[in-house]
Amino acid sequence: MIKWPYLPQDLGLEITKSEGAYLYTKEGFKILDAAGGAVVNNIGYGREEVAEVIKESAINNTYVLPPFLTPEREELLDELRDHWLPPHLTRIHLSSGGSEANESAVKMAIQYQASRGKPEKKIILTRSLSYHGTTLNMSGISGHAARKRGMESYLPGAKTIETPYPLRCPLGSFHPGAKGYYLDNLKKVIQHYGAENIAALLMEPVNGSSGGAIYPPEGYWVEAQKILIENDILLIADEVMTGFGRTGFKFSCEDYEIKPDIMIAGKGMSSGYAAISGTYSTDKIANSIMDAGYLVMFHTFAALPLSCAAANSVLQILRREKLCEKVTPLGARLKQKLTDALDEHPLVAEIRGKGLLIGIEIVKDKEKLISFDEQERITDQIISKGLEEGVLLYPGGTGEYRDIVCLGPPYIIGEEEIDLIVDTLVKVLNHIQVKYN
Ligand SMILES: Cc1ncc(COP(=O)(O)O)c(C=O)c1O
Repeated sequence: MIKWPYLPQDLGLEITKSEGAYLYTKEGFKILDAAGGAVVNNIGYGREEVAEVIKESAINNTYVLPPFLTPEREELLDELRDHWLPPHLTRIHLSSGGSEANESAVKMAIQYQASRGKPEKKIILTRSLSYHGTTLNMSGISGHAARKRGMESYLPGAKTIETPYPLRCPLGSFHPGAKGYYLDNLKKVIQHYGAENIAALLMEPVNGSSGGAIYPPEGYWVEAQKILIENDILLIADEVMTGFGRTGFKFSCEDYEIKPDIMIAGKGMSSGYAAISGTYSTDKIANSIMDAGYLVMFHTFAALPLSCAAANSVLQILRREKLCEKVTPLGARLKQKLTDALDEHPLVAEIRGKGLLIGIEIVKDKEKLISFDEQERITDQIISKGLEEGVLLYPGGTGEYRDIVCLGPPYIIGEEEIDLIVDTLVKVLNHIQVKYN
């Protein structure tokens, strides 16, 4: 009998303890979590302070209907508004994960357009390379081929713009015309579907695991948002992976100096101590939906008091220990060491990213940027070998675009962990190179 997970996987391990930046197997093997789980954990594992507030809240306020206020909810809302959210995003809707929060964002965009008398504006544009979650709608509209397999006949189709991908720009790698090319594509897609039919563009400001820390050409997002505004199309930023300091900014939209109409964040919001995520919007959007008398329905476990208490405690730790301020220098050191060690490596096409979200793209042919065959499952081999060496790396890519290793360690790592990550990657990539040469 297969005990766990639902389908067998190569990586099955039993983890019996997690502490700081490390996981420990049943056999006592120590693994550095260079992935922060699923790029979730920012403050390190096993903090008693967070566990205490979870316990207290579970006893004090076990379950309270989501629309009611509780002290745990109130404190989290204050924390978010006073210290984290861009000031124009005043309205907060809480859910339990990134997919749910993205679904809420899409519903809000559609309801907003309907509430202002534009029900025909109902297309949600997404990007060719993207991941927004695992519900049916998010699976359908994401640009992630591997996670749609076997369901293509059922899923809603994605209406996409091209994801700016400087390394693989059709004009040529890092072509100076890349920004113009991708902005033209946005304009063409809007023209194709008709602005009058489009509610919003849903995008990750920086690709998470779908592409591994892909940044668009400089200045792309500011101009892209102008085009959206001219066409009366909302901008929805999925910061599920990038939110709460991951790229060195509270949210990556701040880095680009853009103002999304709706923003989503999850993962780092609770560092994995509880299941919680948020959909944040402007007053204008929320009031319009409210005035029309529409409902923004909650999930039963949304805003569970213990989850709010956990998130509030995590966010306070991030501030008190100034952990977000450490992300930029730590990330720069990690990236520099990776570049020194691997830039010339024949299998490494690019080392990219900012802060503690870094992607390393692996290819068979560095010159022509040709990937290994999908059947070789190079990423899986890298992750397995990394684990053997005592480092958990995160797999990236969509199947179509593949063999990307993501790094997203907790913000508490130090020099020792940085060296271990770099040395392990060198060992693992040398191993792959010897095997395929
Ligand atoms: C950018 C992004 N959006 C959405 C999701 C989905 O979040 P969840 O798995 O919590 O539903 C993820 C998860 O990896 C993500 O990285």
